Amino acid sequence: MEIAKNSHELRQCLAGLSGDGTVAFVPTMGNLHEGHLSLVRRGFAMAKHVIVSIFVNPLQFSPTEDLDAYPRTLEQDLEQLAGEGVALVFTPSVEDLYPSGLQAHTKVTVPGLTDVLCGRQRAGHFDGVTTVVCKLLNLVSADIALFGEKDLQQLLVIRKMVADLGIPVQIEAVPTQRNANGLALSSRNGYLTPEALDLAPALYRNLMAVGDAVRDGARDYAGLCNAVTQRLNALGFVSEYCEARRCSDLLPALEDDTDIAIFCAASLEGTRLIDNIVIPHY
Ligand code: PAJ
Repeated sequence: MEIAKNSHELRQCLAGLSGDGTVAFVPTMGNLHEGHLSLVRRGFAMAKHVIVSIFVNPLQFSPTEDLDAYPRTLEQDLEQLAGEGVALVFTPSVEDLYPSGLQAHTKVTVPGLTDVLCGRQRAGHFDGVTTVVCKLLNLVSADIALFGEKDLQQLLVIRKMVADLGIPVQIEAVPTQRNANGLALSSRNGYLTPEALDLAPALYRNLMAVGDAVRDGARDYAGLCNAVTQRLNALGFVSEYCEARRCSDLLPALEDDTDIAIFCAASLEGTRLIDNIVIPHY
């Protein structure tokens, strides 16, 4: 497995792969778990080579967020990726990706989809995501790039960016990987105490309960979602939002809309957890 520590080394490694079959790309911020590895495995099901990037992107963290505390476990990550048969890992520095500094760097903004849900709560977050993902997609120029449905809004924003800018890559969505108790795997779960880890699966359980109610004919999305935030708050979560929205444009779901997802964000012990379920049309 080759490791490219900057864009120059990446170009050299890519030259070695060029013409030798399809390439899939999995961008990550490291601290890899089975969720990330499911993207890698899906990549291998679709392409001959898989390239992974590990970069904790400062541009997508606000000054009050956990950039410094974000878990960095490079040695362990590289071991896992080598075990999966990954061809190349790109581990650039902040200076390499943002040579003129964060403020001076060209930004990519996707309007609309980023005004709601996590975009409303985390000002500038999605500009940071789209800027780095656009740059990584250009540098790696893979045939396929894989993203998790765990971050469904991020996936939809990236799909729109790729379509709007004509970036020649196929975006592939991979289902959310969960613990046996339903908790979506996330690097931030590592911040939680054992007590909070016991409580955390309630987030998914409540989303599933909304799914069941919709399957049974309920369509009062606002009422169902309010009940979720109230139940989570009663358990000790601090709810940010729970909303039913259309996947196509992230507008609030109407009664006869199809392709709806329920999006939820809530904090436990100051750690922000997000989850979602896509509700099929019954
Ligand atoms: P990160 O949180 O490291 O996630 C990298 C990829 O793994 C994302 O596509 C995310 O949706 C996916 N992922 C995370 N947990 C998952 C789970 N439980 N099941 C399935 N997929 C999961 O998302 C980012 O990094 C960054 O914003 C990034 C896209 C790399 C840009 O900096």
